[in-house]
Amino acid sequence: MSTATTLNMNIEKTKKSKLPQVDFNNLPFGQTFSDHMFVCDYKDGKWQTPQIIPYQNISLDPAAKIFHYGQSVFEGMKAYKDEKDQIWLFRPLENQKRINISSERLAMPAFPENYFMEGLETLLKIEKDWIPQTPGSSLYIRPFIFATGAGLHASPSTEYKFMIACAPSGAYFAGNVKVLIEEKYSRSANGGVGFAKAGGNYAGQFYPTQLAVEKGYHQVIWTDDNTHEFIEEAGAMNIFVRIGDTLITSPTSDRILDGITRKSILKIAEDEGIPVEVRKFTVSELTEASKNGTLKEMFGAGTAAVISPISLFGHRGKDYELPEIENSYAARFKKRITDIQYNRSEDKFGWRY
Ligand code: COI
Repeated sequence: MSTATTLNMNIEKTKKSKLPQVDFNNLPFGQTFSDHMFVCDYKDGKWQTPQIIPYQNISLDPAAKIFHYGQSVFEGMKAYKDEKDQIWLFRPLENQKRINISSERLAMPAFPENYFMEGLETLLKIEKDWIPQTPGSSLYIRPFIFATGAGLHASPSTEYKFMIACAPSGAYFAGNVKVLIEEKYSRSANGGVGFAKAGGNYAGQFYPTQLAVEKGYHQVIWTDDNTHEFIEEAGAMNIFVRIGDTLITSPTSDRILDGITRKSILKIAEDEGIPVEVRKFTVSELTEASKNGTLKEMFGAGTAAVISPISLFGHRGKDYELPEIENSYAARFKKRITDIQYNRSEDKFGWRY
């Protein structure tokens, strides 16, 4: 069946839903995909008529620039279902703006706001039964753009594909996270692409992260590429620490992703009167605070990770354990944010959509 919306979007529905095969009580992160996907091609200098079609493989020229030069950016979002079966997004316009900031850095065309929002809303209305209601689960939404134009000249493609895929998902991390402070490899550099959600930023982390996983950690905490003294981010999440009662996080820069969960936490902290310092902070500050007992908490924040408490950090062969504390900031922020996301509380800042 084909229907049209205000964008003249073509919609083709699947003949056989995969929904009956999904165990909503046992959802790994990003492994199962819903029945449909949104697709919009860019050629001849403009975005073409978008489509929603059954989730399926795509065919690309082997010389497509995505394969050779990695021209691709993405976003991470979630759709939440409340007890009355209403569907909510969290600050989706922030993702819409950010994908275009990422695209600009990779010399890719901007995707128009009305295409993004209307495509997303139409897709979610079709996929509403794919949004889990099981606690801690949501429909993870992955908008992404990549270069489809063929050619080996190392220059921007003239053709792209914007797509949105949806994956009903449980937690990204199984429990508390153990991190290793990285001092040899770097994730990003001044003037680089660290602030962008470019696919290559993540690929570049896989090898050092693999080495850390072999040592029993889950994630690497990146330090600055110059001195390896300053804490930056964890790659799948921004990093917060609590020393005494003060919440500290690094300022965003060329090298650090401007996380939506990160800025939401800063707003909530301000609202709760928690002392906050957005400033550079060093590894020695952390190890000192751990030794003198003032390091109370460390946690990561991101769309996939939500707020993930860190139980331990490794540095130069030594592990530093975080204490278990009552009424942690991490637990407070997680409750405030997820209560807004799942429509369980008032939405003081107008973040629910
Ligand atoms: C997200 O948090 O949505 C991200 O894109 C991070 C990714 C590593 C899952």
